[in-house]
Amino acid sequence: MIRRYTFGNPVDTDAVFRHLPAEDGNVPYFTLSRDGEKVILTVSLSPDEILFGLGESVRGINKRGFLFRSWCSDVFNHTESTESLYGSHNLLVFFSPSRLFGVYLDDPGLVTWDLGYTRSDTAVITSENGNLDLYIIEEDSLCGIARAFRRLTGRSYLPPRWAFGYIQSRWGYASEQEIRAVTEEHRKRHIPLDAVCMDIDYMVDFRNFTWKPDAFPDLKKFSAELKEDHLRLVPIIDAGIPASPGEPAYDSGKACGAFCKKEDGSDFVAAVWPGRCVFPDFLRADVRTWFGDLYRPLLEAGIEGFWNDMNEPALFFTDEGISDAFSRAGQFRDGQVEYETMWFIKDAFNGIANNMADYRRFYHTVEGRSVRHDRVHNLYGAHMTRASAEGFRRFDPDRRFLLFSRSSFIGAHRNGGLWQGDNFSWWSHLKMALQMLPNLNLCGFLYSGCDLGGFGCNVTEDLLERFLQLGVFTPLMRNHSALHTREQEIYRFSTWEIMRDTVSVRYALLPFLYSEFMKAALTDGMYFRPLAFDYPADARAVRVEDQLMLGEGCMIAPVLEQNAVGRYVYLPEDMLMVRFRSASDYDLIPLDKGDHRISLGLNEFPLFMKKDHPLLICAGGESSETLDDRHFTVLCRTDRPVGYDLYRDDGTDPRPDLSASLTHMTFDPSQAPASRVPGVAISSVLL
Ligand code: GLC
Repeated sequence: MIRRYTFGNPVDTDAVFRHLPAEDGNVPYFTLSRDGEKVILTVSLSPDEILFGLGESVRGINKRGFLFRSWCSDVFNHTESTESLYGSHNLLVFFSPSRLFGVYLDDPGLVTWDLGYTRSDTAVITSENGNLDLYIIEEDSLCGIARAFRRLTGRSYLPPRWAFGYIQSRWGYASEQEIRAVTEEHRKRHIPLDAVCMDIDYMVDFRNFTWKPDAFPDLKKFSAELKEDHLRLVPIIDAGIPASPGEPAYDSGKACGAFCKKEDGSDFVAAVWPGRCVFPDFLRADVRTWFGDLYRPLLEAGIEGFWNDMNEPALFFTDEGISDAFSRAGQFRDGQVEYETMWFIKDAFNGIANNMADYRRFYHTVEGRSVRHDRVHNLYGAHMTRASAEGFRRFDPDRRFLLFSRSSFIGAHRNGGLWQGDNFSWWSHLKMALQMLPNLNLCGFLYSGCDLGGFGCNVTEDLLERFLQLGVFTPLMRNHSALHTREQEIYRFSTWEIMRDTVSVRYALLPFLYSEFMKAALTDGMYFRPLAFDYPADARAVRVEDQLMLGEGCMIAPVLEQNAVGRYVYLPEDMLMVRFRSASDYDLIPLDKGDHRISLGLNEFPLFMKKDHPLLICAGGESSETLDDRHFTVLCRTDRPVGYDLYRDDGTDPRPDLSASLTHMTFDPSQAPASRVPGVAISSVLL
């Protein structure tokens, strides 16, 4: 059951899909108080209470014990003490033996979540602006809450099937030649690959919707040639449009008054990669239509996928911010600088980027009203995603396009996926990525993944390999790295064959993983789940922080530490461990419920299958389009006939039909050839 409570005068955020009448009574579970505009919700936490949710945020799967702020932020340098990341996902689920409920704040402004931080036995949720719809979700299971929330907010985005292939990306690829060198090297060494991302260097002076004529003399031809080889290009689009008269995107936007305004009615200007930019008011439907149509030349050139960036929006600086900083620092110009004043001067400039004062300098038009940006800040990226998705649908309503964004808000999960922002080549960020995934799924963002290998700083061979081992299972499997860091393509490393074999496992599992993804998305389920969702009564399982349930019958437990050659795994029931080294080289080890020490050399990673749940492995291949998804090796720990529904479609149909796309297979161990592993049946199946 879901109940809605309204505070103040909320704007329509587009997060909620199903309208519910507002309740009159008190909000259950919480004590409500106010402080000026703020709406403050307080609830005590029992010692055994676990909190799930908040989508893209730092720290553990269990969010208890820290202070989080929902404020979409460009945070290149995030660590475990960072309170806000790129997206804002205001769903929190309270789970203990004595109660289970979810709270969702449909609030586009700043929300703080003091989850046992100030007092370990209390959670305090504060809406800073006090204009919101609050939803209380009650169901009898964690999975039920996830499903009810999705029914409220709408079905998750479906990417095309090729988007489940391996994607190579790097900030710096600047020409056809460079991209060709990357694709050729992958093909030459048989490293599977489906797409290459084009970062800002493909553009003329980083200007959206342009491409360098010398570097890409015939983009349409280039893209068509790559497609012959089952490869796609995925260009980046940033939020800001250069404020340069003569620039087509600027001129057409200016003509329809599309940009966010300052109080005096002039366009708000801030610097991002191309220099001084204006910012489309994505909250307006007419602006979304104008912006969505700007993608057309790229779509006409055969592009079928995009990543939207810098859409928190990131603001490097404004002229007003610079002048404030000079005047604050300037007051010490004529005196002797002491160490305190030195810090003051430094801080005056340190805080210039993504400054709150700048977020208060501009306005949107929402439902005919002028609304200051900071009050609806968290909608910006989500509505950019919406503009793009709407544009793609207008361009070709019969095709699914790849779209993933850096910034997001609930609601954006219907229009695109996300990548987990600018991580670092750190082991701690590998773990953080894993821990974020189930909470992103809970909030509806099924198509997600991190920059494999890490974006910032220099990766090591073993870290990239362990990132790829997680990436085998993440719907978005993209290797991305920053300019000036160590080159991170697989073939740059002496252990490239190990990495190739790891990627080959993704391709051998691709039909199965795609099937698990599509079934989760189409039934409003979760692709990744905390173990608690499947084993709520198992006191050990509910606290597991480094293993995830995947699809209907699988569990993953990647190695997350340097120099480790194994790890402990907790099995909440009897399972089959499939320890992969490549698509054709793996061990099958039945393990019983309980704790196990698993040995995992650098080239090995496990997938655990619940009993009676078959795993389908195909021969693999070098692109998602050339896989043979009719011949499978099926394996299962079972002693009775079991069924599996494989989801197969053309991979691009935007109106998928779940029941029409399922191929049911029955797997009967008594018909399978004698198995070398007792209790595990293996056979070849032709569908
Ligand atoms: C931002 C993005 C990153 C991209 C870079 C240059 O930092 O998060 O992925 O490579 O901008 O466009």
